[in-house]
Amino acid sequence: MSSAAAVEGRPLAGHTTRLPWPFPDDLDSFRYSVNVEPARVPRPTAAGEWGAHIVDLGGEEYGAMMAERRRILDADPHRVRILPGMLPACWDLLLYYLRDLAISFPHIMELSEDGDHLHWRNHALGTDQSFVLGDAASLPYDPMTFLGREIPDDLLLVKERDGRLCFDAGLVTFAAAWSVSFDVGMTMDEIHNPVPRLTKEGITSRAEQFLRRLPADQVYRRVNWTLSASGSRKLDVSLEELPAWGTDIPALVRDEEWGRLQLRIEVEHFVRLPMTGAVTFNIRTHMTSLDEIRRVPPWRDQLARVVLELPEDLATYKGFADYREPAMAWLTGEVTA
Ligand code: HEM
Repeated sequence: MSSAAAVEGRPLAGHTTRLPWPFPDDLDSFRYSVNVEPARVPRPTAAGEWGAHIVDLGGEEYGAMMAERRRILDADPHRVRILPGMLPACWDLLLYYLRDLAISFPHIMELSEDGDHLHWRNHALGTDQSFVLGDAASLPYDPMTFLGREIPDDLLLVKERDGRLCFDAGLVTFAAAWSVSFDVGMTMDEIHNPVPRLTKEGITSRAEQFLRRLPADQVYRRVNWTLSASGSRKLDVSLEELPAWGTDIPALVRDEEWGRLQLRIEVEHFVRLPMTGAVTFNIRTHMTSLDEIRRVPPWRDQLARVVLELPEDLATYKGFADYREPAMAWLTGEVTA
């Protein structure tokens, strides 16, 4: 089906046309798996296309997302956690991403290199920074924070410690109901223990195998999804902010405002950084409302099938077991907008 044929009513918003729809065309039932695939491969969807680059700047939303990211970082320094020994990996991350950004978006981003002396310019945000690789005093922030203030992705670094893969550094402002301060330092098993089925069905250990074998010259990605814990397009639904969003869904359910419910999609990129061997698990969060999804019939029908079919334990973990039926009934009902 062509994009135009798939769309009803008003034109779709820019973020909808770029949305990384999380389900393959023929999927009717969703279960957890090690669903990784090569990155930097554009993928067409029923409404547009996504995935050409590692970073999705977000089109017209870029400025607003970065203002929100910077506001949170300024207000709460605990959103950045770098465990001892992880600074070299943060420099590695910064250099890898700045090079990648300059190649992906040459019209707005430039990096010039002269040995360890670098000059970064981001014309969209007005950044113009010369610095020396590895010299903390030459940047206004630590290298992970400097990068986190330029791109909308949450940044997570995994490194082997005592024979285990550990989440040892992170900058996270848009967590889906978890906390970087709580999870930092944990092993893959410890992080994934609360997720039903994952560890018992061997998925956590297969994911760990995948991370251990990730080659330095190939980038992979994975898409994850849920219905957001907030009824607005609020990106920051971290545990730190629970008092600010905890009553959103009960209010939305009470008022039956199903169109406001948000599908929250995470695109996660796995890169083995060339100098330190640390692996990234960088998360770019996208959101779209049921109101928007309702206007793309293949998405509307597939989301309803997948959500209604999901076993109770997974729907409970994802937080929508109690309201999925009326929400999906609204989604597949007559379009009145
Ligand atoms: C291929 C590798 C991985 C797979 C297949 C995987 C899979 C999953 C799945 C299925 C969930 C449940 C999410 C949901 O249903 O909404 C989850 C949650 C999570 N994952 Fe992973 N994961 C992987 C790698 C990682 C890595 C490397 C990290 C950390 C650096 C990580 C951190 C987390 C966190 C923080 C959560 C939220 C846990 C919570 O709710 O407390 N994951 N993961």
